[in-house]
Amino acid sequence: MLHIKTLSASDTEAICRIHQAAAALDPGFPAIAAPHWQRFVSSPLNENGRLFRTAQLHGQLVGVASCSLRLLGPTAIKHFRIVVDPPFRRRGVGRALLAELVAIPVEASEVCLQTVVDGRWDAARAFVEFFGFQILESEVEMHCPPMTSPELTLSANITQIEITPAQARGLARLHNEAYRDTASFVPMTPDSFRKSVEEDDRFFVLRIDEQIVGYAHIVPGSKALWLESLVVSETHRGQGLGSELLCHVLATAAMESVIVRLQVTDANRPALSLYRKLGFLTDSISHRYRILEQVLRRV
Ligand SMILES: CC(C)(COP(=O)(O)OP(=O)(O)OC[C@H]1O[C@@H](n2cnc3c(N)ncnc32)[C@H](O)[C@@H]1OP(=O)(O)O)[C@@H](O)C(=O)NCCC(=O)NCCS
Repeated sequence: MLHIKTLSASDTEAICRIHQAAAALDPGFPAIAAPHWQRFVSSPLNENGRLFRTAQLHGQLVGVASCSLRLLGPTAIKHFRIVVDPPFRRRGVGRALLAELVAIPVEASEVCLQTVVDGRWDAARAFVEFFGFQILESEVEMHCPPMTSPELTLSANITQIEITPAQARGLARLHNEAYRDTASFVPMTPDSFRKSVEEDDRFFVLRIDEQIVGYAHIVPGSKALWLESLVVSETHRGQGLGSELLCHVLATAAMESVIVRLQVTDANRPALSLYRKLGFLTDSISHRYRILEQVLRRV
């Protein structure tokens, strides 16, 4: 008999084991380890796993659904990922977890379910398409091979900052203005920027006349710098400042002997062409699937 439960700290080991089994089947699927999972669960967006659910069969954890709530104007979005232990697939575990996510009550005039699925994960694509999810946009994952181009110089207008409260407010404003109309929008508060710095993320800011007009948010890794975000304020676009920031990041990576990786939506044509122009190559493409909850209920 299948039981659906809320998340408990003692589930961590089984959840990591299931992710590792899933990663062995699907290219690019994250084989997460316990510290990574704990950090993911405790991130502000995931509210300590308040909306996460697990599926248990005879006391054994056989599936997990992570879920966070995002608000996009009047629409509430339940952003989720379901992972089922390979030996227990095609037995309705995924369906039961999805039904539980639908059952979570949310006060909003419109509620959607959303997930991001790598184009190479056949089972996941078949699953979401079976329930009628539609592709809203695609996310392109890219990397820039090591370069030694002479254009790759550090810019005197760009500095790495530790983030004062005033700078945090400025970055939050730039982020929210730049991404507010995008499908993946997650609003940032000044506090979330300060928290990122505590977690060793790095921020390069571009100043013109003492005013911060753009920034690059970097998550450092052992082999690559992950470019989490690159923003130039709307009033300063079209003047080469995005290239200046990106070249600075690439030059930093070259000095540290790592590459730069990032993800960008195919709906963001200007960003895609900037990355391609500076030599980024596509590694994989993921699709953002969405469905109105009331449509899914009918299924
Ligand atoms: C996607 C996944 C969660 C599905 O879990 P599951 O428990 O096997 O799914 P269900 O048994 O509830 O399947 C429901 C329906 O989805 C479709 N489906 C699921 N897996 C499928 C597959 N491999 N091939 C074709 N159709 C599939 C079928 O129509 C199925 O109904 P049916 O078995 O009656 O024909 C599972 O394959 C998995 O864990 N994949 C790796 C993790 C992942 O990629 N997650 C992202 C999804 S959010």
